[in-house]
Amino acid sequence: VSDMLVDRFGRKHTYLRVSVTERCNLRCQYCMPADGVDLTPNSKLLTQIELERVAKLFVSGGVDKIRLTGGEPTIRPDIEEICSLLRALPGLKTLAMTSNGLVLGRKLPKLRDAGLDSLNISLDTLVPAKFEFMTRRKGHSKVMEAIDAALQLGYDPVKVNCVVMRGFNEDEICDFVDLTRDKAINVRFIEFMPFDGNVWNAKKLVSFHEMKEIMARQFPSLQRLKDHASDTAKNFRVEGFKGTVSFITSMTEHFCAGCNRLRLLADGNFKVCLFGPSEVSLRDAIRNGADDDGLREIIHAAVKRKKAAHAGMFELAQTPNRPMIHIGG
Ligand code: GTP
Ligand code: 5AD
Ligand code: SF4
Repeated sequence: VSDMLVDRFGRKHTYLRVSVTERCNLRCQYCMPADGVDLTPNSKLLTQIELERVAKLFVSGGVDKIRLTGGEPTIRPDIEEICSLLRALPGLKTLAMTSNGLVLGRKLPKLRDAGLDSLNISLDTLVPAKFEFMTRRKGHSKVMEAIDAALQLGYDPVKVNCVVMRGFNEDEICDFVDLTRDKAINVRFIEFMPFDGNVWNAKKLVSFHEMKEIMARQFPSLQRLKDHASDTAKNFRVEGFKGTVSFITSMTEHFCAGCNRLRLLADGNFKVCLFGPSEVSLRDAIRNGADDDGLREIIHAAVKRKKAAHAGMFELAQTPNRPMIHIGG
């Protein structure tokens, strides 16, 4: 169908990441700049109705998976309603969320009832004091409880996102792998990426290659599993372990050739790549009276401007973007 969201390189976009809020109940150093961020006034955030309207257009363009992000999606007061509304869109196969887990345990049963299919939870350390250092807040045990609550509710797998940073948590890599011995979780080791205000530098990056070497010493039976199409992750399992481990290698082996993702930010900006400053406001178009065809035109034109790949890690560190907290990953 001509309606499909295909770019100049033939990539079909079937996955929309929707940031539902710019706010967060943590202050992670790699995500939120130390001096804070400008918050878009509430009147300029997409309302539930606008969000549903835009999501519907994307689904009619072939999107079959929506992931809710933030900020922290669980702190948006109407998050359950948003889940129900999106879940009801005909053609949507998967409704997912990425959460920091802080208040998730408490909200999960309702989110589950509202139709949330899939869950990724961020956890960068198993040491409470290090958690407080990195997130500038307390709450480590809450996140651990949320992971167990998700398993109990039958989420399978529960994906656990661990951003690896030299000097902070590279010494915990094997402890994280060990969690997969008895838990049906998928621990994903993520290469540290540069965003505005997160003081990235190449020395803090622990590469996929290095992480794998560290692991192989303690877990020689680590085996590569099949990848899923358009997945960010390279998947592995230690023989006999219940869970799996993966690597998200955005920096040293990007996966842009298979990219199927688009992004809608909380302020209504549409972003075709995680990186780069290019954005267009769907909110302004809506509030200026655009009809669905008009919105589709803006969306398709932006998709056609999408680049083949990101610029490379050193270039990215020099390119203006937004702080991660506004993008949601
Ligand atoms: P699945 O939908 O389960 O595949 O999850 P995901 O990996 O796409 O999303 P998640 O929110 O769990 O993010 C995990 C890491 O992948 C974060 O560091 C994201 O910033 C990163 N990530 C997500 N999408 C993209 C992408 O399109 N490009 C790049 N380079 N990184 C991405
Ligand atoms: N580099 C890599 N991953 C990051 N995330 C947040 N900031 C960064 C960064 N600078 C991860 C979070 C969350 C996901 C949405 O993105 O840990 O799990
Ligand atoms: Fe897609 Fe951009 Fe991520 Fe590459 S960096 S995978 S093009 S979103």
